[in-house]
Amino acid sequence: MQTIYYDLRDTKGQQKEIEDKISAAAKILREGGLVALPTETVYGLGANGLDPEAVKRIFEVKGRPQDNPLILHVTGAQWLPRYCAEIPPIAYVLARKFWPGPLTMILKRQPLVPDATTAGLDTVGVRCPNHPVTLAIIREAGVPIAAPSANTSGRPSCTTAQDVMEDVGDAIEGVVDGGPCVVGVESTVLDLTCDPPRLLRPGGLPVEDMERLIGHIDVDKSIHGAKVDRPGAPGMKYRHYAPKAPVTVITGAPEASAREIERWLGPTSGVICFDEYAGRFAGHEVHPLGPCGDKQIQAQRLFDALRTFDGTGVTEIFAQCPDNHGLGLAINNRLKKAAGFHILEADSQRIILGLTGGTGAGKTSALDAIRGLGGLVVNCDEVYHQILSENEEFQDAINEKFPGVFNAQRQLNRQKLGKEVFAKKDRLDQLNAIVFRYLVPELEAKMQAAGDGLYAIDAINLLESGLDRLCDRTIAITAPTELRVRRIMARDGITEQYARLRISAQKADEYYRGKCDCELNNASDSPAEFQKDAKLFFEKLVDAIREEKRHGAAVNLGK
Ligand code: TXA
Ligand code: MG
Repeated sequence: MQTIYYDLRDTKGQQKEIEDKISAAAKILREGGLVALPTETVYGLGANGLDPEAVKRIFEVKGRPQDNPLILHVTGAQWLPRYCAEIPPIAYVLARKFWPGPLTMILKRQPLVPDATTAGLDTVGVRCPNHPVTLAIIREAGVPIAAPSANTSGRPSCTTAQDVMEDVGDAIEGVVDGGPCVVGVESTVLDLTCDPPRLLRPGGLPVEDMERLIGHIDVDKSIHGAKVDRPGAPGMKYRHYAPKAPVTVITGAPEASAREIERWLGPTSGVICFDEYAGRFAGHEVHPLGPCGDKQIQAQRLFDALRTFDGTGVTEIFAQCPDNHGLGLAINNRLKKAAGFHILEADSQRIILGLTGGTGAGKTSALDAIRGLGGLVVNCDEVYHQILSENEEFQDAINEKFPGVFNAQRQLNRQKLGKEVFAKKDRLDQLNAIVFRYLVPELEAKMQAAGDGLYAIDAINLLESGLDRLCDRTIAITAPTELRVRRIMARDGITEQYARLRISAQKADEYYRGKCDCELNNASDSPAEFQKDAKLFFEKLVDAIREEKRHGAAVNLGK
């Protein structure tokens, strides 16, 4: 099939030619074909919304789940009674103020609207898009146009005709190019079948603008990532907008989040950041989102930023994120959905120390010293085992990379997994990457719940697992070998020979010394004395970090 491309970016030129293109697109739609259409939000994949066969093809072409209803696009509020029932007066109030524009209203449907369009619901979403070309095409077609965003399901929405060609170009009859979308995020979806109305999807029309006109609006929990069985808009439950590389959203003040991203950045990390910070990430794949203070530009560039990483070698993406006000709520929601709600809080006042070292060096005593300073020790091994037995997503992620390590009862065969990663560095890296991705949010949640303050991370493979990236400082606990031998003989009741064997099987002090930020050497014969030394050491260290955090912003600004 030949897809016809209609260039209607400039509608000031030859009127006859323009009208011909509009008529041709309208004719395809009227006859049951699919045409991608420009709107102010994102490109839509249009079909006659009253023709079940045409609508079915939309689902096929997009690979869209059958239970996800489509929005009917109309040319004005005069069409509401034709397709909707029990229309509350407030719908007309909203339409008068915000149509044409990025607002979709959910209303009871008329029987005329087919099940194929509403996915069998007794409601229908209607919207009047603010794009002259598409309005002209709908008018000319004489039917309401059902149009989801023109991306293939799961991908970021299309904001240019080129994006559309890339995703569905060869599977549809026509693509109308109306230039890049000026809003850049999809319409706001508002359910008017309840009182007060309910926000189902934040979008191009800020909720504050509507509240000023109609009073309080409830917000569907799914918008903030809460796992609800049945979100108001079925589309909100699907993974969406995700680039191929996993995304982490860093919230907090821009300065703090930029600093946070710097700490996390690896050689193949990509960054979505505010324009002001692009220079900080030189040498990395960077997609500037727009100036900190301009959410309109951020919305316009958002999907493009998410899309363009796919062609690069980037293996993970860190994204700064605006606050939740105005258009920020929609930008937040899309970024966080792209991240699977993998979010890090940047501007907290906590201090995290990571301790590591060989057996018998004194890590346990050092952790006690931190407790003595009021610090909380986070036992990563414990959390790891907890998610291993409880978190099905985590289990599935491991099972996907290491098929067969879980049995039907979801119990892990540790030996089998151990064999898989033992002596195979790339396999171990793969496992660590999965563990890291799921462990960190759990640790974050634990620390968030406990509040600001001092934390010590107790992780067996602090450096190897990547958990050191959570820490303000990593500390190598070292000790002379002869002392370690004696200590573990006494502690574990083992022979000298076995003690030496265990020590020699581990990494040498040099390794930890080289990789950590600082070292605490435990050369004392008396545990009480080491505790005292350790307490002093950590006291000084924590003071230094506090001081640095206090001045961090100012120092970094001058970078
Ligand atoms: O800006 C937009 O709204 C774009 C352009 C093309 O108009 N369209 C768009 O459509 O984003 P789509 O299909 O990608 O997203 C529509 C969202 C989905 O989350 C869907 O579940 C929800 O609206 N929706 C549609 N009809 C609904 C209904 N009757 N009840 C609840 N949610 C509905
Ligand atoms: Mg969509």
